[in-house]
Amino acid sequence: MRKPFIAGNWKMFKNKGDAKRFAEEFSKLYQNKAVDTAICAPFVHLEYLKEAFKGTGIKVGAQNVHHMPEGAYTGEISVGMLKSCNVDYCIIGHSERRQYFGETNEDVRQKIRQLVDNGIKPIMCVGENLEEREKDMQFQVVGRQMSESLVGFTISDLKDLTIAYEPIWAIGTGKTATAEQANEMCALIRGILDGMLGEYIAENTRIQYGGSVKPGNIKELMAQPEIDGALVGGASLIPEDFNNIIEFDK
Ligand code: PGA
Repeated sequence: MRKPFIAGNWKMFKNKGDAKRFAEEFSKLYQNKAVDTAICAPFVHLEYLKEAFKGTGIKVGAQNVHHMPEGAYTGEISVGMLKSCNVDYCIIGHSERRQYFGETNEDVRQKIRQLVDNGIKPIMCVGENLEEREKDMQFQVVGRQMSESLVGFTISDLKDLTIAYEPIWAIGTGKTATAEQANEMCALIRGILDGMLGEYIAENTRIQYGGSVKPGNIKELMAQPEIDGALVGGASLIPEDFNNIIEFDK
């Protein structure tokens, strides 16, 4: 039985004061311990959030990491730095990183290697763009992202992997994939995991849907057998909204 996992992705939003207000309010609201949750925040808030969420069960994630352990890479953040802030999760391969920063499946693979070797749980994002969906290439695109990014890992490496299926055309657009479309892709992803890493990983990996998830559509998404949670952008910025998403079963 996979425990639901709903994570927030703040992207490049919130300054220090905003993060503090959110942490104070959300810590009081979060009571649904039947759902795992994490806030994936900008680097500058990670240490503060770990401290602020102490004892609440709310986990903290980063949104990116560099693929090398250390070195002359001005402006970058290493896995060791994340580890020293006790970060639990890290989003890898978000479509905005792929689109604006040229991240490739090979970069994603190297970043996941850094994370799993250092005990930080990866949330790997996959998903097709609108053109690919219109050409009915979505399964090919996501299949390739999966196989190229997860090649060379063992079952033990990937025991704490989460995959987020985020169709790019649904991110921040207010346009959600239908629950059936999302479920269909999550089933394909699980099948690929089975083929690459076997039944244990396929059965235990949590697959999230992401793209305009809101309090009003989460219930239908979570009712799908292959969807184990959500990666939430815009609606994770407001404590009440994010908590209402977590309380989808109430
Ligand atoms: P959204 O973003 O919920 O604002 O569509 C999702 C994401 O990019 O992770």
